Amino acid sequence: MSEAARFDVIIIGAGAAGLHCAWQAAARGLKVIVIDHAKQAGKKILISGGGRCNFTNMYASPENYLSNNPHFCKSALSRYTQWDFIALVEKHGIAYHEKTLGQLFCDHSAKDIVRMLLDECAQYGARVQLRTEVTAVSHAANVYSVTTSQGTLHAPELVVACGGLSMPKLGATPLGYQLAEQFGHRILPVRAGLVPFTLHEQTKQAYSELSGLALDVVASNARASFKEAMLFTHRGLSGPAMLQLSSYWQPGEAFTVDLLPGSDALHELQQLRHDKPKQGLKTALQSWFPKRFALTLAVQHGWPEKNLADCSNELLAQVAEQLHAWHVQPNGTEGYRTAEVTLGGVDTDQLSSKTMASKLQTGLYFIGEVVDVTGWLGGYNFQWAWASAHACAEAL
Ligand code: FDA
Repeated sequence: MSEAARFDVIIIGAGAAGLHCAWQAAARGLKVIVIDHAKQAGKKILISGGGRCNFTNMYASPENYLSNNPHFCKSALSRYTQWDFIALVEKHGIAYHEKTLGQLFCDHSAKDIVRMLLDECAQYGARVQLRTEVTAVSHAANVYSVTTSQGTLHAPELVVACGGLSMPKLGATPLGYQLAEQFGHRILPVRAGLVPFTLHEQTKQAYSELSGLALDVVASNARASFKEAMLFTHRGLSGPAMLQLSSYWQPGEAFTVDLLPGSDALHELQQLRHDKPKQGLKTALQSWFPKRFALTLAVQHGWPEKNLADCSNELLAQVAEQLHAWHVQPNGTEGYRTAEVTLGGVDTDQLSSKTMASKLQTGLYFIGEVVDVTGWLGGYNFQWAWASAHACAEAL
């Protein structure tokens, strides 16, 4: 074994979690190498937040995360908070702003965040080696040997930071789950999260000409409720409200959308009937919605072509109820192709919440998205990557 191939720590994955872990471990005096099969480090960071990277959220707390064990994320998140990451961003002079709901974005470019992480790696001497395919990993005599397209590397500690399955075109692979299984870990079922919904053919056709239309709504099911924007697309429904709810949705389920949150549709319809009795019901709907949406809603629900004066209280109540609880029955989601995250993953029961270390195998760690901890939309997923990376780096 050549000295050049021996490290204290090998990290697989030069994404958010891997890079953040690498520089902090190197800062503690460890000889660290991060390997990645991609040509570029931090590809997801680069395209995140529309190229401006929503790098954290001012209100991040454990309630914003989904996991089979909702307590698991608490320790790491409390020991490396959004304020710690913000301090790092400020130390590097990166200008940022709050867009909405505590979401912090770079003023200029997501490249600033990748540059910051690579600068920290360079400063402390953590090596980042790209275009490196992992072909095998073994463990013997307390040393991990990682065979790659660039030769074999050895270290007593191995950090798996190679993310989930979302966006294969950005380099996502199942390697993290495969390594976990190789060392006896349980993988909780994975599925696409923060992903647009697709609609059944008939509904899709009815709503497809609304593509581009956005409405402020409250989308809800039995598990969660989100007050954000909904966007009609050619394939179905997207926008923050839909992405958020998708993480709480199971195939086959329906959900409801309040199209007039905060208002009393029945009261307003009755008032309109009093003020403008000759107005048609479909025209009345246009006081809230663009014409094409009002007409499509009326057709889809079979609301009659009547003047308001001829609409009974019962009919108006029915219309109001459907406006406040528009029933959506998706036929699925767009899947990993467009999903921002992968739900499920390495079961937290077999990891230490303080260090991210395997409870089954010495010297093995899992950080970031590969772990069964998934954040809401809005900077929460990067905050998990930073916090879990920090917890691990402190323990190496
Ligand atoms: P990440 O996916 O970042 O890194 C994994 C690394 O492992 C990659 O570099 C990959 O190439 C490498 N790898 C994978 N398989 C490998 C193999 N077989 N061999 C070698 N290397 C391998 N979150 C947020 O908080 N704010 C936001 O604005 C956004 N925006 C956003 C937009 C889009 C389009 C997506 C897809 C995702 C987001 N996210 C987000 C989510 C966020 O990007 C995600 O949660 C983190 O990047 C996860 O960090 P990790 O380091 O765990 O994985």
